[in-house]
Amino acid sequence: MGGYFVKILFALLVCFLHTEISILGLNSTSEISRVKCIESERQALLNFKRGLVNDSGMLSTWRDDENNRDCCKWKGLQCNNETGHVSKLDLHGHYPQRLSGVINISSLIDLQNIEYLNLSNNDFEGSYIPKFMGSFTNLKYLDLSWSRFGGRIPYELGNLSKLEYLDLKWNSLDGAIPSQLGKLTSLQHLDLSLNSLSGEIPSEVGVLTGLQHLDLSRNSLHGEIPSEVGKLTSLRHLDLSFNSFRGEIHSEVGMLTSLQHLDLSGNSLLGEIPSEVGKLTALRYLDLSYNVAIHGEIPYHFKNLSQLQYLCLRGLNLSGPIPFRAGNLPILHTLRLEGNFDLKINDAQWLSSLSFLTTLGLTSLHNLGSSRYWQQMIGELITNLRELSLVDCNLTDESVVLSASIQNSSSPLVTLNLNDNSLEGPIPNLSNFTSLRTLHLSNNRLTGEIPKSIGLLHELESLHLQDNYLEGDINEWHLTNLSKLEELDLTDNSLSLKFGTTWVPPFQLYNLGLASCKLGPSFPSWLQTQSHLGFLDISDAGIDDFVPDWFWNKLQSISLMNMSYNSLKGTIPNFPIKLTDDYKLIILNSNQLEGEIPAFLSHAYALDFSNNKISGLNTFLCGKRASTNLHTLDLSSNRIMGQLPNCWEHLNTLEFLDLSNNKLSGKIPQSMGTLVNLEALVLRHNNFIGDLPFTLKNCTRLDILDLSENLLSGPIPSWIGQSLQQLQILSLRVNHFNGSVPVHLCYLRQIHILDLSRNNLSKGIPTCLRNFTAMMESRLPTLTFSL
Ligand SMILES: *[C@@H]1O[C@H](CO)[C@@H](O)[C@H](O)[C@H]1NC(C)=O
Ligand SMILES: *[C@@H]1O[C@H](CO)[C@@H](O)[C@H](O)[C@H]1NC(C)=O
Ligand SMILES: *[C@@H]1O[C@H](CO)[C@@H](O)[C@H](O)[C@H]1NC(C)=O
Ligand SMILES: *[C@@H]1O[C@H](CO)[C@@H](O)[C@H](O)[C@H]1NC(C)=O
Ligand SMILES: *[C@@H]1O[C@H](CO)[C@@H](O)[C@H](O)[C@H]1NC(C)=O
Ligand SMILES: *[C@@H]1O[C@H](CO)[C@@H](O)[C@H](O)[C@H]1NC(C)=O
Ligand SMILES: *[C@@H]1O[C@H](CO)[C@@H](O)[C@H](O)[C@H]1NC(C)=O
Ligand SMILES: *[C@@H]1O[C@H](CO)[C@@H](O)[C@H](O)[C@H]1NC(C)=O
Ligand SMILES: *[C@@H]1O[C@H](CO)[C@@H](O)[C@H](O)[C@H]1NC(C)=O
Ligand SMILES: *[C@@H]1O[C@H](CO)[C@@H](O)[C@H](O)[C@H]1NC(C)=O
Ligand SMILES: *[C@@H]1O[C@H](CO)[C@@H](O)[C@H](O)[C@H]1NC(C)=O
Ligand SMILES: *[C@@H]1O[C@H](CO)[C@@H](O)[C@H](O)[C@H]1NC(C)=O
Repeated sequence: MGGYFVKILFALLVCFLHTEISILGLNSTSEISRVKCIESERQALLNFKRGLVNDSGMLSTWRDDENNRDCCKWKGLQCNNETGHVSKLDLHGHYPQRLSGVINISSLIDLQNIEYLNLSNNDFEGSYIPKFMGSFTNLKYLDLSWSRFGGRIPYELGNLSKLEYLDLKWNSLDGAIPSQLGKLTSLQHLDLSLNSLSGEIPSEVGVLTGLQHLDLSRNSLHGEIPSEVGKLTSLRHLDLSFNSFRGEIHSEVGMLTSLQHLDLSGNSLLGEIPSEVGKLTALRYLDLSYNVAIHGEIPYHFKNLSQLQYLCLRGLNLSGPIPFRAGNLPILHTLRLEGNFDLKINDAQWLSSLSFLTTLGLTSLHNLGSSRYWQQMIGELITNLRELSLVDCNLTDESVVLSASIQNSSSPLVTLNLNDNSLEGPIPNLSNFTSLRTLHLSNNRLTGEIPKSIGLLHELESLHLQDNYLEGDINEWHLTNLSKLEELDLTDNSLSLKFGTTWVPPFQLYNLGLASCKLGPSFPSWLQTQSHLGFLDISDAGIDDFVPDWFWNKLQSISLMNMSYNSLKGTIPNFPIKLTDDYKLIILNSNQLEGEIPAFLSHAYALDFSNNKISGLNTFLCGKRASTNLHTLDLSSNRIMGQLPNCWEHLNTLEFLDLSNNKLSGKIPQSMGTLVNLEALVLRHNNFIGDLPFTLKNCTRLDILDLSENLLSGPIPSWIGQSLQQLQILSLRVNHFNGSVPVHLCYLRQIHILDLSRNNLSKGIPTCLRNFTAMMESRLPTLTFSL
């Protein structure tokens, strides 16, 4: 009975309370305690919103109407539940939703009680971090990362004495790290990575003894790492990678016994790795790679790093034996020791004891030995690995390496890189490597055919088999399932590619290298389907055909195209294409191309058309165009006839010009003197007449001037010696030059080859020719000087 009574009483009570609330005009109990926001702060926030260019709808609840008066309820805001002051402002973006524009952040100055401010992942278009942020003295968390702030870090931030967390990573900040940050004694987390900060690490950081996370990676900081860093004994995460720090790693690093993550890679540190690193027994991640001047042995006490999961020492200059024995570093999953030529792993037992290992990189370790034992051990390791790089390791027996253990089941291997070894024999059946994305076996001694089972590796993105002795045919069946393939290189084997004329490959390649494979005689029509090509090498591929018009359009995406040494025919149509990238290399030498060079090619960086049947370059030189980018033009051994057009001023970026072995006649045009960047001018074996244009005097960067085997006449101009003082090779042989040899040639202090033979020069060699000191230094002095 009593229970009933209590329940009724309780019901009445609830009923009464409810009435009370309704009387107060409130809808829920939580609103009793809620304090409405401060009017001045509300205005500040509205000002801030008004200043934005685009808030992507993130601030849609920030409205100045009756129902939204309480800014504490606005999205991203939190107020102190007693004072009503804004305490938290979280406006982090989330792409594509983000605040953008040069934001008038100074409108926030009224938010004096703010404790948490997160403006990360927005786009502030290079605006400065406002100095007044230094007056937010209650701030504990400040996150301005990934937001395109520019300028310097204001030293006023040093006033934020309660700050525990400061994240400015991935902005465009420059200048030095202000020493005032040393006043932030509450700081636990400091991330300034991925900016353009310069200068040294201020020694003041040594007082930030509460710091647990310090990331200054990927800036332009330099100087030594201050020994004060050794005082930051609470540090768990220290990343100073990819700066320009130099000097030795101080032994003080051994004080950082809480450290779990240490990354000093990509600097210019030198000396030996201090043995004190072996005291950091909490380390899970250690990366010292790419400090080429760190030498000596791996310290013996690295054995003690039993928590280590990631060890990367690639690109150092370590030598001697590794100190590890079976049972050391038991939970290691990544081991990279690439490029330490003189490091010895003589305990293969240790490697096979690493049962969690997923990534192993031993590239260029020359002391692995080619013993069968070693190779068998690697074969066993492959069973668990996801990534294996043994490039340039002197391995010989691929059958051991690749087939030792794959009989059992499918392998999780994603990347296998065995380039530059001496692997012999055929490529084994790899069909159980179903996860492979990268398979690199180039520059070995592999023989036989490419197995059809390659076609079952449907995850494959990159296949490099160049520089082997592979032979036989490749047809559609090999490639039909490889829909993810992006790179294919079969260069320098004895392979024939036989695809039907209507074949549509399942992939879109970026890189295709088929040099010296047999592709022809027809032009490979399947290339028409490949619209992302950036690198294409089908040189010496037995193609004896006209190049279809659609192909030349691909030059818009291709950066490096080599189709030399085929029998390509026809003319290149003059498309109105604008080639955009800056380093386009187009190599078409030794073919049968004819007609004019089209004007659009003048935007390439280098053009090699030597050894073709090209007959003209009028539109190329004189056609209308805005600017060119051509640095190298080789048209030697073609069929260009008649007078050279006088329009060279368009090509003033040229550095190398070879027009030798054509049938050019008339005078050398005046406008060639505008090629002031020219380093080599080769007009050998044509029919040029008359004297040299005086304008060439302006080509002061010339190293090579070869005008031999023409019909040039007149005296040898003295300005050659006076103006072209960089010349290393000057050949005027087999012409009709007359008069005496000007003494001014003696100014050519760099000259190595001077050939004036077979002209009509009067006798008499200037005595000053003994001043040709460079010629004496050169190992193969050449002075052909018959008059
Ligand atoms: C109470 O809530 C109702 C609906 O949720 C709303 O219409 C009403 O305006 C609220 N009253 C007050 C005083 O906020
Ligand atoms: C604002 O940003 C959003 C998301 O980024 C975008 O969809 C929208 O077009 C932008 N509005 C204006 C006016 O630029
Ligand atoms: C105010 O909020 C804090 C936590 O944010 C809480 O601990 C405290 O009890 C709240 N005070 C009132 C009066 O609601
Ligand atoms: C700020 O927001 C981002 C999300 O963009 C989040 O990852 C980060 O942890 C936040 N910063 C702080 C200090 O809470
Ligand atoms: C930025 O906001 C402040 C304060 O709200 C105001 O005084 C200033 O004029 C604004 N500046 C610009 C460029 O809008
Ligand atoms: C920072 O603090 C110093 C005193 O330590 C004071 O003079 C200065 O005005 C403060 N700066 C700001 C922006 O609050
Ligand atoms: C490594 O551990 C051994 C004992 O296992 C100990 O004697 C030695 O001092 C430790 N080395 C370092 C550098 O801590
Ligand atoms: C590597 O170290 C050896 C001495 O151990 C030294 O002779 C050599 O010059 C160093 N190489 C580089 C690139 O620093
Ligand atoms: C490769 O191994 C052979 C013996 O198998 C040895 O003579 C040679 O020096 C090794 N090459 C390198 C670079 O270590
Ligand atoms: C692939 O693994 C299966 C067992 O899963 C095995 O029967 C087969 O022989 C293996 N294939 C090759 C080529 O090793
Ligand atoms: C050589 O270049 C200068 C400017 O660098 C120019 O004033 C002069 O006319 C040029 N001379 C000839 C002959 O082209
Ligand atoms: C050649 O060298 C001698 C001294 O070595 C010097 O007096 C003379 O002026 C030089 N001649 C020329 C043309 O540079």
